[in-house]
Amino acid sequence: MDSTTATDLAALAKSNLTPTLGRYFERSWSHGEGHRLYDTAGKGYLDFANGIAVTVLGHRHPAVTAAIHEQVERLIGPTAAMGYGEPVVRLATELAATFPEPLDTIFFLNSGSETIEAALKLARRVTGRPGIIAFRDAFHGRTLGATSVTSSSLNYRTGYEPLLPAVYLAPFPNVYRDFGGDEERATGEAMAALRRLTATVVPPTSVAAILIESVQGEGGYNPAPAAFLRELRAFCDEHGILLVADEVQSGYGRTGLMWGFQRAGIVPDVVCVAKAIANGLPLSAIVTRRELQERWGVGAHGTTFGGNPVACAAGLAVLRTIREQDLVANAAACGEELTAGLRRIAAAEPRIGDVRGPGLMIGVEFVKDRAARAPDGDLAEALIARCADLGLLVLTCGVEHQVIRWIAPLDVTSAEIAEALGIFEAALQTV
Ligand SMILES: Cc1ncc(COP(=O)(O)O)c(C=O)c1O
Repeated sequence: MDSTTATDLAALAKSNLTPTLGRYFERSWSHGEGHRLYDTAGKGYLDFANGIAVTVLGHRHPAVTAAIHEQVERLIGPTAAMGYGEPVVRLATELAATFPEPLDTIFFLNSGSETIEAALKLARRVTGRPGIIAFRDAFHGRTLGATSVTSSSLNYRTGYEPLLPAVYLAPFPNVYRDFGGDEERATGEAMAALRRLTATVVPPTSVAAILIESVQGEGGYNPAPAAFLRELRAFCDEHGILLVADEVQSGYGRTGLMWGFQRAGIVPDVVCVAKAIANGLPLSAIVTRRELQERWGVGAHGTTFGGNPVACAAGLAVLRTIREQDLVANAAACGEELTAGLRRIAAAEPRIGDVRGPGLMIGVEFVKDRAARAPDGDLAEALIARCADLGLLVLTCGVEHQVIRWIAPLDVTSAEIAEALGIFEAALQTV
């Protein structure tokens, strides 16, 4: 193993590694083992960040590592445009089986942003309509198309206009921040705003797709009310609009269900999947019913690296581990346990305005005072730094970075939850 020290790495990074990419921590990482990440000084950190919801089975998972090694010995290079490869086809079959009917057809890509690009292109080509509706505070990625439907930070959009034309942003039903916990009112007002948008700005007959995260990720771990998702589904059906669910962060068991949209009992037309799919190797996918991609047409979209055999072999190991160890149920149960612990801490902590699930997609929102709900991003950022000092990795999110998101691995244990809560409580006492 390389013996480069943390200081050497940081200094080297300052010379040749991009300063444009934002980093949560000025720490240098050496290796990971199970649910711990180790820095170059050998200090271990309980990893409840998972590289932003990616390494959901932790680090160096034996099944994933073995699958990668085996595939590397056989074939590394892409097969997408060359024909068919075993792990690629098998992952398509097994991934499709996790979706409700009629979602059965997979297009593999490399990143979350690419799935958004693909979804937007498919929607436009298949419907023959230009319009895309997305929601305020959403985050869908960094490519120009994905940036056009993203509004969780001005910095993500500034200087890039003109963005994609015919994109319209509707208010997201932020239950805590805008409606003080009233889901019904949040649903009613957001649907009314959507109807106003399609009555005064863009006719529904010009809209190809409505794009939504069933739980907003970067925007603040804001769950869309189930009733809102159902009304959105009905609205799309009424107007022939495709409903695109961005499950890049909320998918793969994170919400205590395999897919976040299942909380509402709806079936989207297109689902975007990435992050957790290969526990750290670059892989993503869009999932639709077969007929939609048949209408999209051969060659209407393509990729060189999408569906890499090594990434797909890792993906198979991830999916089989989740299934065999019943990890979606574990995420639901452990999510309740972690949420209960956080609520207990929040009850005695006026700086916490809200603790919200679902499952292991938990947001803790910090406020300057509870009644006014004024966001306190400085506090949340100071806290994640303090937690890291004390050996726990958690991240912020939210438009003012005011939410701490807890992204525990799907196979987290009660002992680790207790350890994390203890560190968080200690951090709160010193910040
Ligand atoms: C909901 C959501 N969609 C899309 C993306 C973009 O994914 P990627 O960074 O892999 O392009 C992200 C990344 O955080 C995300 O959280």
